[in-house]
Amino acid sequence: MAHNIIVGQSGGPTSVINSSLAGVFATAKELGAGKIYGMRNGIEGLLEERYIDMTEYIKNSMDVEILKRTPSSFLGSCRFKLPTAEKSPETYEKIIAVLRKLDIQHFFYIGGNDSMDTIKQLSEYAKAKNITDITFMGVPKTIDNDLALTDHTPGFGSAAKYIGASTKEVIRDAQGLTYKKSMITIMEIMGRNAGWLTGATALARTEDCDGPDLIYLPEVPFDIDKFLVKVKDLLKKKSSVVIAVSEGIRLADGRYVCELGSSGDYVDAFGHKQLAGTATYLANFLAAECGCKTRAVELSTLQRSASHMASRVDIDEAFMVGGAAVKAADEGDTGKMIVIDRVSDDPYMAKTGIYDVHRIANEEKVVPRNWMNKDASYVTKDFVDYISPLIQGDYQPIMVNGLPRHLVLNLKKKR
Ligand code: F6P
Repeated sequence: MAHNIIVGQSGGPTSVINSSLAGVFATAKELGAGKIYGMRNGIEGLLEERYIDMTEYIKNSMDVEILKRTPSSFLGSCRFKLPTAEKSPETYEKIIAVLRKLDIQHFFYIGGNDSMDTIKQLSEYAKAKNITDITFMGVPKTIDNDLALTDHTPGFGSAAKYIGASTKEVIRDAQGLTYKKSMITIMEIMGRNAGWLTGATALARTEDCDGPDLIYLPEVPFDIDKFLVKVKDLLKKKSSVVIAVSEGIRLADGRYVCELGSSGDYVDAFGHKQLAGTATYLANFLAAECGCKTRAVELSTLQRSASHMASRVDIDEAFMVGGAAVKAADEGDTGKMIVIDRVSDDPYMAKTGIYDVHRIANEEKVVPRNWMNKDASYVTKDFVDYISPLIQGDYQPIMVNGLPRHLVLNLKKKR
């Protein structure tokens, strides 16, 4: 691989998206790539000709190690929907012109299902225009774990590990203060339409912890009346009730529960409404109905950038998929995404595979109904067994003065 490559990061941050970037970078170097460029803020930045030469920032193996342990997107991310080539041919002409200017032969995009649409469209355009000397490869990433055809996505294991640990801590905290008085805690977990992360709260059910009392995923309509009956029943038996809900739970009529409260109207480029306020709404509702103290806990962005709690399996796999994408591109693959195939559970082993990105872009893999209990108020043992191997091990952050050190661009000491 004597040619130049470019890599970008897109969509929501994770604890390990930079580990995939490190995998692309290290493998490209190993294979003898020429220049290794990074897009600033994904395709949106590339369209504005914003990019860096990554070798100016990642100079040695220590930098690679710190990058692997740095959360969020080192290069900056974007939520940018590429218009179709029919609607905006000039967008594609511009992208190809920038790639030609930099003499790029391989283009890599690390992202989720919306970002894979970018790879799909670019590879289709290249094919239509007979551009055979630039390849386009997708590298999977999303805490939501909702990408099709891959056993799981890099980013999910670390978020699940943080969520499992935080759930134990929330339960512990609440138990300390519920002597002779009741309290209900509602935890709100990210994941939009897929309940993988909310279900990960069940990891807290261990020999030293009962785990949450109820878990509600977005895959099944939420019945607020039945919910209230269940909570009242639990309050008769215990003083601290902890409930996990997905940010994306909806009523049978399709309305998000967060819309019943005072959630904002922000909608991103993909038409996704910002979901927040579900736990606050339910906590207020239960306070009024049950007459006891309630508390809403939104894990919010903490769950996707908690690299101090990242899973070793996740960091290693994120690195592995980045490297596999480079090798595949070097062998001539284009318009594809690397996937993770689970080889065995015990011992846990996984390897990479590869699929046409058309089968992945814009698809959403949700939690199967048979991994929830009968009334969809908890997840099953199969669900927990699926996640368990993905949260194992850790990488200690590189600590400086008591805090994790991160690798960042343009560090300016403005005080
Ligand atoms: O991309 C994944 C995700 O973390 C979702 O779980 C969540 O709904 C969304 O991002 C939030 O995105 P933003 O930070 O852009 O509001």
